[in-house]
Amino acid sequence: MKISLEQFAQRREQLMDKMLPGSIAIIPAAQMKQRNSDVEYPFRQDSHFYYLTGFNEPDAVLLLIPGRTAGESVMFCRGRDKLMEIWNGYRAGPEGVVADYNIAEAHTVDEIDTLLPALLDGISRIYYSIGRDEDLDQQVRHWLNLIRQNVRKGAVAPSELVMIDQLLNEMRLIKTDAEQAVMREAGEISAQGHIKAMQICKPGMMEYQLEAEILHSFAMQGCRQPAYSTIVGGGINACVLHYIENDQVLNDGDLVLIDAGCELDCYAGDITRTFPVNGCFSAEQKALYQLVLDTQKACIDLAKPGTLWDEVHEKSVQVLTQGLIDLGLLKGSLEDEIDGGGYRDFYMHRVGHWLGMDVHDVGDYKVDDRWRPLQPGMVMTVEPGIYVAADNEKVEPRWRGIGIRIEDDVLITEQGCEILTASVPKEIDEIEAMMASA
Ligand code: GLY
Ligand code: MN
Ligand code: MN
Repeated sequence: MKISLEQFAQRREQLMDKMLPGSIAIIPAAQMKQRNSDVEYPFRQDSHFYYLTGFNEPDAVLLLIPGRTAGESVMFCRGRDKLMEIWNGYRAGPEGVVADYNIAEAHTVDEIDTLLPALLDGISRIYYSIGRDEDLDQQVRHWLNLIRQNVRKGAVAPSELVMIDQLLNEMRLIKTDAEQAVMREAGEISAQGHIKAMQICKPGMMEYQLEAEILHSFAMQGCRQPAYSTIVGGGINACVLHYIENDQVLNDGDLVLIDAGCELDCYAGDITRTFPVNGCFSAEQKALYQLVLDTQKACIDLAKPGTLWDEVHEKSVQVLTQGLIDLGLLKGSLEDEIDGGGYRDFYMHRVGHWLGMDVHDVGDYKVDDRWRPLQPGMVMTVEPGIYVAADNEKVEPRWRGIGIRIEDDVLITEQGCEILTASVPKEIDEIEAMMASA
């Protein structure tokens, strides 16, 4: 755990400060999911739950009850169980949760139906993220019904159910110094994986072999899971934005696009690099690559406090569209190609997204219907691209089937920004030199 127990406690305090009096928050952990037969998917804790606890076990529920004199944080978790622990490993149990996670009170999850209605009695507002966990949705309904059955005996049922996400999303959007440090490390580990892939790439290799090299590199740094499925697209596969088959051969003369990031203590890295399989860019590849790179750098120059979120995207559209006109891939004027959306044949996604515990992290992009200004502590990706479809007959054949994206992770600072993923080369001469010397 790279975030201190004090910080997890501070986050719970901060959240409770935002809750109205007479309220309770219910935040569930993730559950194990079956993959097939007796095999489960690797466990990944729920981001909200981990953000507030640092507790990495499934089947737990955190309650926050501001002002409760017997303790404001209550956790229900799996009980200790000798046999289960022989098979599946250590469980903290309620005692461990209190002793090691700074939680005021804890019980086994088996007790939740018995104890929860009493905790809800007299509470007027429940903060809960409805629709994320069907089982828990049903359980919450069940608890509410239990209280309602007792209103004639004086029980008072909650009258308001409020989505908790807005409060937590806003907190998670601004990264603390400790989070920035973890994300700096996640960026560096992700960068090292990309460098390894560049160094071993040769014509004739399979896409999955580059993926394997990257995942090995992440795992050797303690990141056993990537933050999302790794994309390794050679040639025209780079034009499929979420290509994850990764089962084709890498051909001499093609580019390969790799979009990969590690997950470190529940924080994501997210890097894309595109480079020539044989180590040397062709003239067309060079021209389009330089345009994407110039665009990305122009966007990163805007990544500073006060810039509106959409200004970065608008910049990417302008620079890319002008470049495509200059190269002859678009034929209209800048205004016509932007207003008419002609550029979307080549650039069909947004310039980036918030990054944090989730690769597409939480946080609103607009506030009161206006694009949000960037603020210190926000982390975003900047990832423009050009994808020329193999069947685009409006452009000369020499351009067709080329897909390029360049993506870095950028922390907004007081002065401007810090690129968290700067270690992996992106200049044409740097990439060629690194591949030549490998
Ligand atoms: N890897 C997902 C993305 O770049 O948004
Ligand atoms: Mn990416
Ligand atoms: Mn991304």
